[in-house]
Amino acid sequence: MFRFLRAVMTSSTTPRVPIPANGVDYRGKVVLAPMVRSGELPSRLLALNYGADLVWGPETIDRSLIGAQRRVNSRSGVIEYTRLPSNGGRKDAAAQESIIYRIDPVREKGKLIFQIGTANPEYAVQAAKMVAGDVAGIDVNSGCPKPFSTSGGMGAALLRTPDRLCSILEALVEEVGKPYQIGISVKIRILPEPGVTEALVSRLVKTGITGLTVHCRTPPMRPRERAIRDQLRMVASICHDAGIPCVMNGDVTSRDQGLALMEEFGVDGAMIATAAENNSSCFRSEAEGGLLPFMEVVHTYMKLCLETENRFGNTKYLMNMIIPGKNKELQDTKTARSYADYCQILKFDDLLPAALHLDELLNLTDKSAHYKGEARSKAAQNALENNETARAAGGASRPKSASPVASGVGPIRTNSIPKPTKPMPETEANIEITATAPEAAQKQEVTA
Ligand SMILES: Cc1cc2nc3c(=O)[nH]c(=O)nc-3n(C[C@H](O)[C@H](O)[C@H](O)COP(=O)(O)O)c2cc1C
Repeated sequence: MFRFLRAVMTSSTTPRVPIPANGVDYRGKVVLAPMVRSGELPSRLLALNYGADLVWGPETIDRSLIGAQRRVNSRSGVIEYTRLPSNGGRKDAAAQESIIYRIDPVREKGKLIFQIGTANPEYAVQAAKMVAGDVAGIDVNSGCPKPFSTSGGMGAALLRTPDRLCSILEALVEEVGKPYQIGISVKIRILPEPGVTEALVSRLVKTGITGLTVHCRTPPMRPRERAIRDQLRMVASICHDAGIPCVMNGDVTSRDQGLALMEEFGVDGAMIATAAENNSSCFRSEAEGGLLPFMEVVHTYMKLCLETENRFGNTKYLMNMIIPGKNKELQDTKTARSYADYCQILKFDDLLPAALHLDELLNLTDKSAHYKGEARSKAAQNALENNETARAAGGASRPKSASPVASGVGPIRTNSIPKPTKPMPETEANIEITATAPEAAQKQEVTA
C-alpha cells in the first residue's frame, strides 16, 4: 500500500526530462556496460539475445572516429566505421584499413548507446555526429581511471574538471542530441568526498542530459574491490529532483539482483559489466531459467561472431573469458587459430561451413592448428558459392525487410552518414563518403 502511494505521489510530483524521439528512456532497464574489447558487436548481440534491455558500446575516442568512413557490409548488413591508420609514417608499408566500430542496424535499433572518450567539446560533437543517426544515445565516459584516458584529460580526469565536462555535455546536447533527437548521457564514478560528488552531479543534471550512470567505485579503486553504495541514494535523489534517470553500476551480477538493487536504492536502472563478460545469460531472469551452461553461451556467441564477421583476435579474447580456464577438455581452445579450429574443438558441426567461409574471408584458412577436415568441406564450398554465410550461421532468420543490405552489388556497399532528424546548420553531417578496399577491413583497433 505504502509503495503504491509513494509511486502515485512520486509520479505526480517528480519532474521527468522528455526523451527525444529517436532516444531511449533508461528507466526500468537492466543494461550491458561499456567495455573496451569485451563490448564489441557480437558481445552486445549476445547480451541482447539473453534479454539485456540496452547495450553500451566500448568507449571510442573522439579523434579515432573523426574522419572515419561509414559503410554497410552487404554480406552481414552490419554498419562499419573504418579508417586508414597513418602507418607510422612508413611510406613503403601498405596501409591496412581498420574497422573501428560496428553496429547491427536491425538488432541494435533503439538499444545501442555509443560511448565516447573525449576531453574537448568540438571533437566530441564532430565524432558524435558521425554515429548519431545510427544510435539511440551518446554517453560520455567520465569514469575511466586508466592513465591513457586521464592523461589526455578524458575519463575520470573529467570528474575533477567539471567546467570542461559540463561544456562537453552541453555542446553534445545542443549540437547532436537536439538535431538528431537522441539522448546524451554521462557515466561517472563516485568521488571519495561525498560533497564533491554531490556538487558535481548537481551541475551535470543541469546540462540537458537524459541519463546518468554512477559506477559505485572511486577512481583509485581496483575492479576487484567491492562497490560502495553509500553515495548512491544521494546521487539518485539529485537526478530525480532534476527528472533524470539514474542507472547504478558496480557489482551487479544478474537481472534479478539488478532489479532488487534498483528497488532498494531507488535508482532507475542497473548496469552489468564483468558478470556479463563471463556469461551474458545473466540477463535472463530466474523465471526465464537464469544462467545458462557456458557451452550454450559459447555456441550462441560463436554463431554471432560468424554472422558479424568479427575480428578473430577479439573473438578469441572473449572466448577465453567465457570458457572456464579449469576446463581441461577445452584447453585446446586456447591454441585455436581459426574459426574452423573452434568448431572442430567444440564440435560445433552446424557452424563449420560458416566458419570455413569466414576463415577464407579473414585469411585464416592456412593458420588452422586443429581443424583436420579438407581445406574446404563440401558444405563450406556450397556456402561460399552461394555467399550464404549468414544463413549458415543462422542469421537469415533476421527480417529481410529491415535489412540495410543492398541487392547484390559487390561485397561492400558505400553509404553516407545519416542526416539528422531536424535540419542542421553544420555541413559535416551531410558529407558523402566513399568506402575503400573491403578485403583489408579485418584489422580492428582497440579504441580505448
Ligand atoms: C574489460 C572492461 C572494459 C571496460 N571498458 C569500459 C569503457 O570502455 N567505458 C567505461 O565507461 N567503463 C568501462 N569499463 C568499466 C565498466 O563499464 C564498469 O563500470 C565496471 O566494470 C564496474 O562494473 P562491474 O562491477 O559490473 O564489473 C570496463 C570494464 C571492463 C571489465
